[in-house]
Amino acid sequence: MHKGSTYNITKLFLDKLSDKNPEITEFFMPKHTPGFCVGCFNCFTKGEDACPHADTVQPIVKEMEKADLLILESPCYVFGMSGQLKTFLDHMGYRWMPHRPHERMFSKIGLVISTAAGAGTRKVTKDLKNNLFYWGVPKTYCYGKHVGALNWETVKPEKKKQIESEVTKLAEKISREVCNVKPGIKTKVMFKIMKMNQKSNDWNATDKEYWIKKGWINGKNPW
Ligand SMILES: Cc1cc2nc3c(=O)[nH]c(=O)nc-3n(C[C@H](O)[C@H](O)[C@H](O)COP(=O)(O)O)c2cc1C
Repeated sequence: MHKGSTYNITKLFLDKLSDKNPEITEFFMPKHTPGFCVGCFNCFTKGEDACPHADTVQPIVKEMEKADLLILESPCYVFGMSGQLKTFLDHMGYRWMPHRPHERMFSKIGLVISTAAGAGTRKVTKDLKNNLFYWGVPKTYCYGKHVGALNWETVKPEKKKQIESEVTKLAEKISREVCNVKPGIKTKVMFKIMKMNQKSNDWNATDKEYWIKKGWINGKNPW
C-alpha cells in the first residue's frame, strides 16, 4: 500500500504507456487482500462463489477479466513476493489452466514488476510471471530492479535516470503489443495437456462441466 520504489516504478510505466488516457484500476495489498486461503477446496469443487472470501476476491477477478494489460507488482521480501500478494494469488488457484481458466486471459499481456534492495527480484518476477502463465496469459514482461535503497526517496538520482530510460523502452514495446497478442507454442501445449487431463477427469465435476460447456474438450480453443 505504501508508495515505495515498486509503486513509483509502476507509475512510471503507466505514464509511459502510449495510450495517454488509459483506464486504470488499481488494487492495493493488504487493503484489498482477502483473508488467508483456508484450503476448503470450495473454489475448485463447488465454484468460486463458494469461497469464504468471494466477496473480496471476485470484484478483483472481474476487473482483471476486463483488462487488456495486467500488472502485478511486489517488493522483494526475503527472496519472494510479499505475503499479502501471495494470499491474493492463492485465491486464483481455480483460474489456473488445470482448473477453470478464463478465455479472456489468453489475449492479455502481462507485466510484472519487483524491486529489492540488493538481490532477489528475479525470484519474484519469475513467480509472478508463472502465475500469469498458468492463468493463460500468453506474454508477460518482467522488470526487476535492485534499487540499493529502502524507499524511493533515497534511490540515487543516476539510478532513477537509468530506471526511467529502461521503463520508457519497455513501455513502448508493451504499448505496441497490447490488444495484439496471441498464445504461443508453450501456452498451446500446456492447454492441450490440460484438455487431456480434463477428458479423464473423474474427481472434479465442476471443472469438467466448465470445460464441456466451453466446448474446449471437443476441440474449441479459448483464443
Ligand atoms: C520484510 C522485508 C524483506 C526484505 N527482503 C529483501 C530481500 O530478500 N532482498 C533484498 O535485496 N531486499 C529485501 N528487502 C528490501 C526491499 O525489497 C527493498 O527495499 C524494496 O525496494 C522495497 O520496495 P518498496 O519501496 O516498493 O516497498 C526487504 C524488505 C522488507 C521490509
